[in-house]
Amino acid sequence: MDDLNGKVAFVTGGASGIGLALARAFAEQGARVALADIEIEALKKAEGDLLAAGAEVVGVQCDVSDYGSVEAAADRAIEAFGKVHILCNNAGVAPSGAMDEMAPNDWKWCLGVNLMGVVHGIRVLVPRIKEQGEGGHVVNTASVAGLVALPTLGAYTATKYAVVGISETLRGELAPLGIGVSVVCPSFVKTRLHEGHRNRPQELGPGPEEPDAFMTQMLAVATEPEVIAERVVRGIRRGDFYILPHPDFKAGFEVRANEILAAFDLD
Ligand SMILES: NC(=O)c1ccc[n+]([C@@H]2O[C@H](COP(=O)([O-])OP(=O)(O)OC[C@H]3O[C@@H](n4cnc5c(N)ncnc54)[C@H](O)[C@@H]3O)[C@@H](O)[C@H]2O)c1
Repeated sequence: MDDLNGKVAFVTGGASGIGLALARAFAEQGARVALADIEIEALKKAEGDLLAAGAEVVGVQCDVSDYGSVEAAADRAIEAFGKVHILCNNAGVAPSGAMDEMAPNDWKWCLGVNLMGVVHGIRVLVPRIKEQGEGGHVVNTASVAGLVALPTLGAYTATKYAVVGISETLRGELAPLGIGVSVVCPSFVKTRLHEGHRNRPQELGPGPEEPDAFMTQMLAVATEPEVIAERVVRGIRRGDFYILPHPDFKAGFEVRANEILAAFDLD
């Protein structure tokens, strides 16, 4: 898709961080944007700020871990703009802790948002994009944790490896239809990811009282989300499948890939 002008984007997790930067970048390209997010106050503010900047945008409250909620949000977006061409499955949370210490509810929350959120977005919106017959693009936000396992982020790593795998499958299925797929795998980005527990459902019990100290430190000095959004816009335009904005993680991936390659040749 080389021209985003007049297209419609549906961005989950669009009220904050990378999702909000994607929304701004799409609007700058002349796209109309539906922001789908669970956090109502942040959503209203993001919608208001974008409207004030002249963007065509609608905010829809949505819990991506709930299939019915994604369906309803997609209906609202289509009601507002008639179509959807670009689907960004971006909402995510990152509970941390050692593998043997993470509570089953931490897993449930993380898998619900990061994995089932992507599954729901695809199931709800890809059939509509296909039906329209105008092409389109799906962008799934994974992470470098989808390519290299990160310590104390076991549940997060599991979901992000899954998102990379889902994206690889989806790419093959949609290529014959002229619908592109990208998977974006950033390392640290300056967002509110370390404060993700603000959106943890009450029925899953309380999260930690303080955000993870290491993540707080890393995110404070990390890449601005606008840099990731620029890479995504470029990736959609030229059809990049892997969008890897942090080349400093290449060495870590090489170690993993080389170990796997060598293991094929073991007796
Ligand atoms: N920040 C980083 O360092 C980093 C690095 C790699 C990948 N990522 C990924 O980027 C994506 C965006 O995260 P971010 O860093 O911008 O964090 P963020 O917390 O600033 O934004 C995440 C957004 O998702 C929303 N959200 C949370 N649960 C939701 C749910 N159930 N339904 C709908 N929306 C929900 C939040 O309200 C928030 O607006 C995530 O998938 C994250 O894993 C982030």
